[in-house]
Amino acid sequence: MNPSNRVVILTGATQGIGRATARTLAQAGCFLALAARTRDSLDTLAAELNTGSTQAIAIPTDMGDTVQAANLVRATIATFGRLDIVINNAALGVRDEVVDLDESQARRVMDVNYFGPVALIQAAIPYLKANRDGGLIINISSIVGRRAMPGIAGYCASKAALEKMAESLRIELKRDKIRVSTVYPGVTATRFNDHSLGDSPAGRGRLAGVPAKRVARAILRTIHHERRDVFITLFDRTFITVGVLWPWLMDQMLGRYTNRL
Ligand SMILES: NC(=O)c1ccc[n+]([C@@H]2O[C@H](COP(=O)([O-])OP(=O)(O)OC[C@H]3O[C@@H](n4cnc5c(N)ncnc54)[C@H](OP(=O)(O)O)[C@@H]3O)[C@@H](O)[C@H]2O)c1
Repeated sequence: MNPSNRVVILTGATQGIGRATARTLAQAGCFLALAARTRDSLDTLAAELNTGSTQAIAIPTDMGDTVQAANLVRATIATFGRLDIVINNAALGVRDEVVDLDESQARRVMDVNYFGPVALIQAAIPYLKANRDGGLIINISSIVGRRAMPGIAGYCASKAALEKMAESLRIELKRDKIRVSTVYPGVTATRFNDHSLGDSPAGRGRLAGVPAKRVARAILRTIHHERRDVFITLFDRTFITVGVLWPWLMDQMLGRYTNRL
């Protein structure tokens, strides 16, 4: 769809990929409902983006709380009167091997990365259905949601859950003209690892990562072209392809990469 004048909910908007996406979508003429937990950062970003022809509002939200996730839709409708696009970008990592995984941390990750996005989507569906041309739901997953890595199983499982939910949802919503896309970033240069729960060095990547802006541009292209699955780099595509076609080979490679073999 053409992004101009579309009303977009964007979670995790204040840092990393979310902040780069907010700026990219504002330039493309979107009206933005920006969500994250930190009010000051949200207000600063909304003020920055409000200077042009677009409008951005700040809605402090903890996506780990399903009531707050659903309220995000109500607050957006109260300001803009409509909703066209939902981007589930906020997420939290957890770094620990399965044997050490803390249950409360693993549950928090599932709350933020899976149950919050589901609640947001459920609240958004009636408003997307009401549009003549439906709407678009974009979930930001990860290549490790497709092919898990050792040391971050709790995070991989939450992203896999999001992807499987999207597979059902896409078919369920087709007749309502609501489209569902999943974006799979690989390693991206943000502070995501610093924000992750768990204190094991396991799961800390050694790659530098692509700039967040590159992922933001891919998200804008996803709005334009509404592709089902979106990858950022050739490396990411190859990682997934090898993981699907030769899973045993990927086991060997990941074992070597993480010094487990
Ligand atoms: N960076 C990577 O290498 C990488 C790779 C693959 C996929 N991804 C995915 O890309 C997305 C963005 O990641 P990023 O690297 O940009 O992360 P980031 O730099 O850690 O930023 C996370 C954003 O989400 C917000 N957030 C965190 N917890 C939240 C919560 N409970 N409720 C609402 N907002 C919350 C943060 O703001 P507050 O702290 O103010 O809430 C912040 O704006 C995530 O879905 C991540 O899984 C990242």
